[in-house]
Amino acid sequence: MDQKKHGHAPWVVVTAYDAPTASLLERSGVDWVLVGDSVATVLLGYAATSEVTLDEMTHHVRAVRRGLRTRPLIADMPLCGMGRSAAEGLESALQLKRADADAIKIENGPHALEVVRACVAEGIECLGHVGLTPQALVPGESPKARGRSADEAAEIIEQAIAFEKAGACAVVIECVPAEVSRRITAMLKVPTIGIGSGAFCDGQVLVYQDLVGATSGPSPRFVKRYADLSSSAGDAVGRFAADVRAGRYPAIEHTYPMPPAELERLEEKLDRSARP
Ligand code: KIV
Repeated sequence: MDQKKHGHAPWVVVTAYDAPTASLLERSGVDWVLVGDSVATVLLGYAATSEVTLDEMTHHVRAVRRGLRTRPLIADMPLCGMGRSAAEGLESALQLKRADADAIKIENGPHALEVVRACVAEGIECLGHVGLTPQALVPGESPKARGRSADEAAEIIEQAIAFEKAGACAVVIECVPAEVSRRITAMLKVPTIGIGSGAFCDGQVLVYQDLVGATSGPSPRFVKRYADLSSSAGDAVGRFAADVRAGRYPAIEHTYPMPPAELERLEEKLDRSARP
């Protein structure tokens, strides 16, 4: 992945879970595509990201790869993929690599640094993830900003530095005050990618469905909606239903015409077969 930090325009990172979205993101000029474990709550109907399985993540990584030709694909390591040791975490990372991920993002948590070290030793690029780490939320718990006290901020800064020392090629910083992410960004040589962490990071990431307004319910404070797909899709389906019920759909232009001579022949055939 291209990680020249200085003099680089801010990195633009967006999530995708399927091939058409991945190819739309590529056409729209994003730098990196993230197959986030947010697929769990955004698409798969789970109550928490921690519930998605490694095989489900692998399935979505393969789908995204089919739609993505030129941009790097980052795969989230799901919570269950971390296992109980660096060796088990590495096994999961290798599975995501075989599905053609370019790099693996690992949330801060027990033995996260050991997993990063094991992956890097095998030549697998890793990103760290600090601040709000959704895998640590219990189903139903609402996400809150992290690092608003000096103690917690100092801890997050240490975690980011530790990820860099372990060999991470970038660090995602989620939902921390801009003053904290600014300090992390100044301290690290590798790029920081922010989400809900202000404008000082080296790049920004958003969930595709959040930015195009394809989710229902309220969005987190940091989301800027650039479209309202949910309303326009709901409106489209409502108009389809009304057309079907009123006999307006399908119209003649939505059907496949049969040449009149063939229709005549068909009627003759049916007449013959109906005769006793
Ligand atoms: O799962 C996800 O989508 C993420 C974010 C950083 C967007 O981890």
